[in-house]
Amino acid sequence: MRIDIISVLPELLKSPFEHSIMKRAQQKGLLEVIVHDLREFGLGKHRQIDDYQYGGGAGMVMMVEPLSKCIESLQAQREYDEIIYLSPDGKQLNQQITNRLSLHKNLLMICGHYKGIDERIRTQYVTLEISIGDYVLSGGELAAAVLVDAIGRLLPGVLNDETSALFDSFQDNLLAPPVYTRPADYNGWKVPDILLSGNDGAIEEWRYEQSLQRTQERRPDLLSEDE
Ligand code: ADE
Repeated sequence: MRIDIISVLPELLKSPFEHSIMKRAQQKGLLEVIVHDLREFGLGKHRQIDDYQYGGGAGMVMMVEPLSKCIESLQAQREYDEIIYLSPDGKQLNQQITNRLSLHKNLLMICGHYKGIDERIRTQYVTLEISIGDYVLSGGELAAAVLVDAIGRLLPGVLNDETSALFDSFQDNLLAPPVYTRPADYNGWKVPDILLSGNDGAIEEWRYEQSLQRTQERRPDLLSEDE
């Protein structure tokens, strides 16, 4: 998969993809993340990318022309399955959306700043708006990093144990069961006997029950969700 990201702060998007699973995904050639500096499409000597909003009011708005030119230069090179604007107004990200996006070939993400982007970019180019939660970040970059990470780890071959993403929290709308590692007894805090029993069937059943119980206690909303 290839993911292009348009940002005014490309430096902010360097480190998140240079470590651990995202690094490996790129080294294996399964994921390519390319960050484009919107300033390169800025207007005039100062490479302006934002301006005051029509109608008055505090806060700058990212201008239509630099974004339009940047998007079209990318579209001239490939077709995007989705053009995603990261915004608190968007559809709230969940595992189902992430699963669906992980099946695509080319994604383009746009990070907003200040008061946001000129509405015409949203109506003319954006095909999907995603929020990572009901709070406001100072820009879309950290949200884009979250989205890329959540998608990247689902790409076939990225995780060592191919099955492990299937047992993540939220796959099947259930939270993950508790996990333990050595030692089996730490200061009298014991690992549940069942996990030491070697009985795979019983362990699987226990894990399912724990998942269900945890979901009922913490996120009952997930149990009634269709999507
Ligand atoms: N930009 C600012 N806040 C955001 C949020 N909560 N989700 C996605 N993008 C954002």
